[in-house]
Amino acid sequence: EEDGKFVGAADVDYAEEEERRMSAEAFQSVRQQLGRSYLPLINGEYVNTAEVIDSLNPSNFSEVIGKVGLISVEQAEQAMQAAKAAFPGWRKTPAKQRAGILRQAADLMEQRRAELAAWIVLEVGKPVKEADAEVSEAIDFCLYYADEMERLDQGVIYDVAGEMNRYIYQPRGIAVVISPWNFPLAIACGMTVAALVTGNCTLLKPAETSSVITAKFTEILVEAGIPQGVFQYVPGKGSQVGAYLVNHADTHVIAFTGSQEVGCRIYAEAAILKPGQKHLKRVIAEMGGKNAIIIDESADLDQAVVGVVQSAFGYSGQKCSAASRVIVVQPIYDAFVQRLVEATKSLNIGETELPSTQVGPVIDANARDRIREYIEKGKAEAQVALELPAPEQGYFVGPVIFSEVLPDGIVAQQEIFGPVLAVIRVRDFAEALAVANGTNYALTGGLYSRTPSHIQQAQTDFEVGNLYINRNITGAIVARQPFGGFKLSGVGSKAGGPDYLLQFLEPRTVTENI
Ligand code: SER
Repeated sequence: EEDGKFVGAADVDYAEEEERRMSAEAFQSVRQQLGRSYLPLINGEYVNTAEVIDSLNPSNFSEVIGKVGLISVEQAEQAMQAAKAAFPGWRKTPAKQRAGILRQAADLMEQRRAELAAWIVLEVGKPVKEADAEVSEAIDFCLYYADEMERLDQGVIYDVAGEMNRYIYQPRGIAVVISPWNFPLAIACGMTVAALVTGNCTLLKPAETSSVITAKFTEILVEAGIPQGVFQYVPGKGSQVGAYLVNHADTHVIAFTGSQEVGCRIYAEAAILKPGQKHLKRVIAEMGGKNAIIIDESADLDQAVVGVVQSAFGYSGQKCSAASRVIVVQPIYDAFVQRLVEATKSLNIGETELPSTQVGPVIDANARDRIREYIEKGKAEAQVALELPAPEQGYFVGPVIFSEVLPDGIVAQQEIFGPVLAVIRVRDFAEALAVANGTNYALTGGLYSRTPSHIQQAQTDFEVGNLYINRNITGAIVARQPFGGFKLSGVGSKAGGPDYLLQFLEPRTVTENI
């Protein structure tokens, strides 16, 4: 902290030879550990499971990153009972002590930064520079939520003569965290430590394709001193174990990041009272986006082209924040598309271990096939401005740009979650805004413009949770760009912002007549 302002962890500067050497060493050491087994953590013990899956490297799927034990429904129930047993002790643990565990976890992640980044690269195919930034984000979530809990723990005092009034927060109970594979460390960590620091006992169920990195995060929390039963790592099938925990009468909070389809189902299921349930569940869901960047005629095209390419194709477009639509006004449309195509051709695609690589593989065969289907649909409704070839090995999809896409087209409306960008031509800025707002989503959005009235209007009328002006629209930073959207992009307040922890807390008022 400087002057009470939160300062985040610094990313690695790969221009430094020493840093590149440390990164190469980390890859070497992680490679020697590939194929090991990882078990769920239930009530402080690593437990055996009947079912085991292989987590594969999406760049080279003959490489098994780790073997992960998946829990059964009976084991999910054991984890729930352990969480319930641990709750009375955890809720009474002073906030400062809980925050201390988060700070310890942040320290451990900083020490293991290069190694954690290497696991992210190998397990989910994220280029190393972005994997490193993800480690920073995970550290920031720990440090920021630790500070935030200490702030909230002071409560609010409304004393008047003869009457003491205290406004205080208490934890809700048991939190189930369902985390995605695309930010396997940062988002899993952020939701989990928010639930923990506020005093909730927490069960973490990761996406199957990112179970190894979540197991590494589990090691870190255990080493940081999280008590048994307070935190449990419960990898399992979403349709089975995930659904069981969501529907459980003892679940109080569900923190989910993932697809709109699953998010909406969780929201509906969580609303149904189960026998014996004496509370309403709180659902925090961060879902998809169909994020647009508007380019008006006053835009600095050099800047705009770079920002669009980064936002659309970084991590192969597999971010809920990624740009998947560019809306360009008529007078500069042709010039912009031409320059966008040229810039996209110069992307470095392939070797995710190199800091210069921008585009890696997509997560798995299902994702690749789904994205390819969308590309075929796009070809039937729009023009192909660019289709880049992709490496043969691994689940790669080369970046694709469609031009002359109609605002209601399939590739302009549905979340593809891959390196596919739809360029839409509009008459003017007013139409651009209308088209930008014409989806079910409201997550991120961008505007490249040097026209003050347009910038002003976008601030009020562009329906997104995170609006970025004259810069890329991904890579939100904790306590700088609190992250999250509305409409069908999410119910829940912003991660890395001042309202986030409140969702895991129950406020109470205590009045004493004195
Ligand atoms: N927070 C990430 C970003 O801003 C997305 O989850 O890119």
